[in-house]
Amino acid sequence: MRKIAIAGNWKMYKTQKEAKEFFIDFLPLVENTIQDIQVLICAPFTNLPFLVSFTANAPTNLAIGAQNLHWADSGAFTGEISAPMLVELGLKFVIVGHSERRQYFGETDATVNQRVKAAQKYGITPILCVGETKQQRDQNETEACIYSQLKLGLEGIDQENLIIAYEPIWAIGTGDTCATTEANRVIGLIRNQLQNQNVTIQYGGSVKPENVDEIMAQSEIDGVLVGGASLEPAIFARIVNYRATN
Ligand code: 13P
Repeated sequence: MRKIAIAGNWKMYKTQKEAKEFFIDFLPLVENTIQDIQVLICAPFTNLPFLVSFTANAPTNLAIGAQNLHWADSGAFTGEISAPMLVELGLKFVIVGHSERRQYFGETDATVNQRVKAAQKYGITPILCVGETKQQRDQNETEACIYSQLKLGLEGIDQENLIIAYEPIWAIGTGDTCATTEANRVIGLIRNQLQNQNVTIQYGGSVKPENVDEIMAQSEIDGVLVGGASLEPAIFARIVNYRATN
């Protein structure tokens, strides 16, 4: 049985004060839905301790996650955060290999793989992001790109404790959503590469209230990873309260 997971990726948005204001408005809008699906907000590191305690009495299917972690337990790695530091906060999820990390901070499939392993070693579920550039799509290299990211990123990985997010880079923050049938097709291809057929696979890239119902109605798509539209409580609540017809 595949689990549904609706996740917000706040990226580098929201101070602690703004995060608190978000949750005050957001929680009442989703408290009934949240029992059935995994809902997740991946917030900046500085917000994590506060948000974990602020949501301590929220339904258990609401989780706070991180946006990255380093592969070492500790060490001279200025600016990085380790898995034991996330575990200490009680975190159960972390985004790994987001395209912005790959594009702006030089992360490679090899380091992404190490980060995924570090998360799993400490019982944290990594959300491994994969996705092609516009140029790769235009040159019919989407499949090759995804297969390579999966092969290298998943080397030696336990597929029991894993979420994958398919985020075509050209659809991130552009308003240019991937056609739902195409997202479904690529996610089906991703699933074909996995040993564990029950891995939750999300779609990400310009998800909004206007398209979430259609996205969630697709047979292969088990959730969404939402950037911009996760920043406003009412908008993200509508995404969490999606109305898929399947
Ligand atoms: P947008 O929803 O803003 O396109 O961002 C998607 C994303 O990068 C989520 O990780």
